[in-house]
Amino acid sequence: MPRRPLVAGNWKMNGLLASLAEIAAMGAAYDDVLKEKAELIVCPPATLVGLAVELTARGAIGLGAQDCHPLASGAHTGDISAEMLKNAGASYVIVGHSERRADHAETDAIVQAKATAALRAGLTPIICVGETRAEREAGDALGVVGAQIEGSLPADAPGTIVVAYEPVWAIGTGLTPTLADVAQMHAFARERIEARLGGGKGATVRILYGGSVKPANARELMGVGNVDGALVGGASLTAKDFMAIADAYR
Ligand code: 13P
Repeated sequence: MPRRPLVAGNWKMNGLLASLAEIAAMGAAYDDVLKEKAELIVCPPATLVGLAVELTARGAIGLGAQDCHPLASGAHTGDISAEMLKNAGASYVIVGHSERRADHAETDAIVQAKATAALRAGLTPIICVGETRAEREAGDALGVVGAQIEGSLPADAPGTIVVAYEPVWAIGTGLTPTLADVAQMHAFARERIEARLGGGKGATVRILYGGSVKPANARELMGVGNVDGALVGGASLTAKDFMAIADAYR
């Protein structure tokens, strides 16, 4: 079974009610030709997830959230569970983004617990991994990402998971790794995912590239072996740029 490309937009802490118009415009531009070629999802802030449901269903764009708590409910002020996101209409949730690992001291074990929670709730987790600039310069990029995959993926994933490789130094900087470095990392990640999950599942998991994906570089990045789509930050905030990136698959 060929892997269906996935182009996912991560809005991070951006988006007010007026931004729903961008999601509506994405849905309108997601025509039958593109639907044949690639799956599209947008992950707005939690405040907009419930409101985006109707818009995304109309355009057949999928909907995701950006984080979830490991538990289903309880005394955790300010947190949101995977079950709540599912109930609000999400089908994906990003876990272990480097901004959460940094801002909220999320460890691989916490990320794994969140991914497990997502699967329990019937959501597909998009599990993020990626090295810092210092780690790449020290020659540790593969080692760091390999350890993150080992520690952040549930060993027994009963449902579909997605992995996103996002070099921290490429996020929001306009910098991207060379295509050869992307190819090497994605091939390595696929091996490590298979080592973690077993049973040939490594071949089925979609591995997204994230970090300064723009309309101008999407085609070449998406053309690299073992790159099964993109996790897009800044350029996913407008329908114009996000759809121009998705058009790499047209
Ligand atoms: P940018 O596309 O803004 O570099 O962000 C990437 C990212 O972190 C997506 O999760």
